[in-house]
Amino acid sequence: MAKPVVFITGGGRRIGAAISSMLMQSGYYVLIHVRNSLSEAQSIINQHSESNDGEICGDIVQTDLLNDNIGDLIDIVTNHPKVREYGGLFGLIHNASVYQPIGFEELTFEEFKKNFTIHVEVPFLLTKGFYEQLKAKSGSVIGLVDTSQGRAWQDLTHYTSSKNALRQMMINLAGDLHPHVRVNCIAPGAIISADWEIEHFASVLEKVPMGRSGEPKDIANAAKFLLESAHLSGQIINVDGGWTLVE
Ligand SMILES: NC(=O)c1ccc[n+]([C@@H]2O[C@H](COP(=O)([O-])OP(=O)(O)OC[C@H]3O[C@@H](n4cnc5c(N)ncnc54)[C@H](OP(=O)(O)O)[C@@H]3O)[C@@H](O)[C@H]2O)c1
Repeated sequence: MAKPVVFITGGGRRIGAAISSMLMQSGYYVLIHVRNSLSEAQSIINQHSESNDGEICGDIVQTDLLNDNIGDLIDIVTNHPKVREYGGLFGLIHNASVYQPIGFEELTFEEFKKNFTIHVEVPFLLTKGFYEQLKAKSGSVIGLVDTSQGRAWQDLTHYTSSKNALRQMMINLAGDLHPHVRVNCIAPGAIISADWEIEHFASVLEKVPMGRSGEPKDIANAAKFLLESAHLSGQIINVDGGWTLVE
């Protein structure tokens, strides 16, 4: 029986892994894109395939989104045997990200551009490249953004400006692609800290009304909800324990 196929970028670890895992558990065939997290992605596939009577629940596509050709990636996904068998992609999740603070004086144009490549250009190219398949399946696109809109996050101009460009691109595409393809965003709050922000993360949690960090599965729940909510488009779901209410 044909399963809905979802392609997720950066889906081998952390939040991406939780989304890949939840979707496999829910009956999706998931193509997990990774740059380095091959073994992590493989163990997600193994775990879910074992509990699904040995039926393989997904596969891995490895690419460096900054250095490899995105057209080649689109071809690999499009010609994947399961994508062909199941009639094309139903879901596309823009999750891959870079997140490193750099003060304005040290911030090079190259680093600035790198953030725009991974957060804006790659999602644009992938959405365009998969549009016909998504359209044929009345599919769904999800962008992982954040809660930085309208705020100044110290030393993260390159990150916040590119993530908010993604947010706006997704909303505009929701308007342009209806009724064939739905486009939404998830804005996680403080879910898993990066290695460099552990102290800052703790101070953020003191302000979060829910009084704790979220869990990757909270984001995965939102992704599944958006994929399956046939009348939802152009929405941003803040999964942030209420953080945006107080800041
Ligand atoms: N963590 C949070 O609390 C939080 C808060 C707000 C928003 N978000 C957003 O939620 C999403 C997931 O967050 P996360 O913290 O789990 O993300 P993350 O760990 O920072 O990055 C996700 C994945 O992006 C991939 N990636 C990075 N550079 C790449 C490149 N050049 N080519 C290909 N892949 C590349 C990596 O894949 P490999 O591991 O395979 O190399 C990485 O595992 C992100 O879009 C993030 O901005 C997260």
